[in-house]
Amino acid sequence: MSGNSFTVRDPKSGREFDLGVRSAVLGPDVIDIRNLFSQHDLFTYDPGYGSTASCESKITYIDGSKGVLMYRGYPVEQLAEKSTFIEVAYLLLYGELPSGDQLKDFDRSIRTHTMINETMLRLFNGFHYDAHPMAMVAGVVGSMSAFYHDTTDIHDPRHRDIFAHRIIAKLPTIAAAAYKHTVGQPFTYPRNELTYCENLLNMFFAVPPEPYQVDPVAAQALDLLFILHADHEQNCSTSTVRMAGSSGANPYSAIAAGIAALWGPAHGGANEAVLRMLEQIGSVDNIPKYVAKAKDKDDPFRLMGFGHRVYKNYDPRATIIRETCHRVLERMGGNQPLFELALRLEEIALKDEYFVEKKLYPNVDFYSGIIYRALGIPKSMFTVMFAIARTVGWVAHWREMITDPEGRIGRPRQLYTGPDRRDYPPLDKR
Ligand code: SDX
Repeated sequence: MSGNSFTVRDPKSGREFDLGVRSAVLGPDVIDIRNLFSQHDLFTYDPGYGSTASCESKITYIDGSKGVLMYRGYPVEQLAEKSTFIEVAYLLLYGELPSGDQLKDFDRSIRTHTMINETMLRLFNGFHYDAHPMAMVAGVVGSMSAFYHDTTDIHDPRHRDIFAHRIIAKLPTIAAAAYKHTVGQPFTYPRNELTYCENLLNMFFAVPPEPYQVDPVAAQALDLLFILHADHEQNCSTSTVRMAGSSGANPYSAIAAGIAALWGPAHGGANEAVLRMLEQIGSVDNIPKYVAKAKDKDDPFRLMGFGHRVYKNYDPRATIIRETCHRVLERMGGNQPLFELALRLEEIALKDEYFVEKKLYPNVDFYSGIIYRALGIPKSMFTVMFAIARTVGWVAHWREMITDPEGRIGRPRQLYTGPDRRDYPPLDKR
């Protein structure tokens, strides 16, 4: 690569040609291959997109080798210590931290859009009580495109803002309705005087027969978890939202697609899988057996909450969540044995050559479930909590994609290795 071009030699013709290089503010520069097929009849090949930049973005930067994560240039450690989830949501959506007035207006807009259409509430009666909450939330969020027709012009900035505030405000209400449906309790309406996380906890745990007092430590721990889960560059679910939105689909449907992608155990579903894994391991004595299973190529068992496509160092979010576990468990109690088991598992794994050589460290999902459980949130709701926070990142990326002057419908190509042309044989000739 020289200057701002990259020279390639066509393997078939032997001809050499240059490709443009575009410079990044941080991280790797990119080779611009947009005209590779039209001008040189060549595709690139990158299953899983490990070396492919799908877009230009100004939202989040990750340096996987150094364990760096920044939202709009601000280190996530500083935001975790000094900011709130609502302020971080404003930052991710609009690109700058808000002034006092801007924050007050944004917070008021979110607080006054938390109710959902009463007919939407009745959708939950269509699910069995034991339906997985992620299935219910994905379905009900998808149904929002059937309820909200007044923000259908995705090229109208005002419509984009109404959509953003609505979906961020209503996700906790939909999540709480799903939870109440699984426990057979009446739905608790949102209350505008509560903060975002206080409101969520109240909708989860308040019951008609008695008043419910939100524990400020619980609300603060939830706010921190939501900051840490808010965005993460072009991860699987965010890329799904961008892809679905690139066709001009209703934005609520694009978010529902993101929720579906997040559910997988290789992605956001890992936080639930980690708790199930820790309960399966049961005691410190069993750790060596399960670490051996994780290393065995013939065993499908993986150490859930370990490894990451981008981080080949500590996931900075995991470090912050582990430290928060201490504070929350001291206050809320419970889970200590599970937390001790997780700490020992991390210690043993990170001394094992397999994990060291493959650079497999704890990721955001390894400790988060310990806190959710200490807050009284059941395992089946862990990925729903992830979806509530990541809705902010999904919406921020959807807006960036919709307003990208270079934006086009996503349509990757392929390396075809199927049968060459052949004629249809009559039945008696097969
Ligand atoms: C999230 O992308 C994001 O940013 C996601 C996320 C976000 O905020 O959006 O950070 C959230 O999804 C975190 C990841 C949660 N998933 C898990 O914890 C599930 C367990 N982890 C793995 O399934 C895996 O590490 C992935 C899916 C996270 C990453 O998979 P990659 O990048 O495709 O890596 P890989 O599967 O190619 O693994 C590389 C090697 C393999 O061995 P070899 O084939 O090279 O011999 O490491 C091994 C894998 O077998 N490996 C593991 C392992 N993770 C990878 N072995 C045992 N246990 C593991 N957890």
